[in-house]
Amino acid sequence: MTAKILDGKALAQKLRADFKRRAERLTAQGARPGLAVILAGGDPASRIYVRNKVDACEQTGIRSEKHVYPAGAEQSALLDRIAELNADPAIHGILVQLPLPGNCDAGTILGAIAPEKDVDGFRAENVGALMLGSPRFIPCTPRGVMKFFEEADIALEGKEAVVVGRSNIVGKPMAMLLMRAGATVTVCHSRTRDLRAHCRRAEILVAAVGKPKMITGDMIRPGAVVIDVGINRLADGKLCGDVDFAPAREIAAFITPVPGGVGPMTITMLLANTLESAERAAGSGR
Ligand code: GUN
Repeated sequence: MTAKILDGKALAQKLRADFKRRAERLTAQGARPGLAVILAGGDPASRIYVRNKVDACEQTGIRSEKHVYPAGAEQSALLDRIAELNADPAIHGILVQLPLPGNCDAGTILGAIAPEKDVDGFRAENVGALMLGSPRFIPCTPRGVMKFFEEADIALEGKEAVVVGRSNIVGKPMAMLLMRAGATVTVCHSRTRDLRAHCRRAEILVAAVGKPKMITGDMIRPGAVVIDVGINRLADGKLCGDVDFAPAREIAAFITPVPGGVGPMTITMLLANTLESAERAAGSGR
């Protein structure tokens, strides 16, 4: 079987058309949605991610502002900026791009963001709310993955789901969302014994490890839904995922490509979270 491609670019485009209308509605009410992005340090990948996020806001009618700090910036400067943004009624979302430079403590910085503006959903209050089943902000990448299932009508109830990776940004919230949707979830990580055996059982396989082509064809169950969260740059400059795409595509029923799969959906869900935050602030709902 050759897998059906889950096209993140097309789905993102479709969702963004609706978001644009919602942003226009808010703007007409004098409540234009606003996102502030903080970039500290010169990580080249982070710079590209931030540029893409700011561009996506622009295209959707969300006002965005970028605050850039050099690698040696004082943590207190970032905390002062976050306090300002917390108090600014024109800002509905604050995103601190990770990773932060070594002299900044991510827990302290993320913990300073007002929970109702934490559009990444990384604050303890928001992680807790997701775990308890009434989320305020769902972290963008796992939320984007869930949209693929919804769009392609992929039922999750009772399914065997395997998440490879246990990060706070992807693996843990992904597992929580799959569990909420009724899947039986296994979380694998760098200490897992016999990763292949776990993956082979997966009807839904989410790879979020950051190792190029680590999930090989022989690890995939025939007919599985394969979601590749990895974005890795190879020596020749090309991008590839955590899944060895060519063989996997011949075994799976559905698969996301890299690029053009999960990546565009992550940014789209940042727009969704920012819009929802602005709608809540304006008391407008949908
Ligand atoms: N770095 C890698 N992924 C993310 C993300 O989703 N949000 C933020 N803030 N930083 C990241």
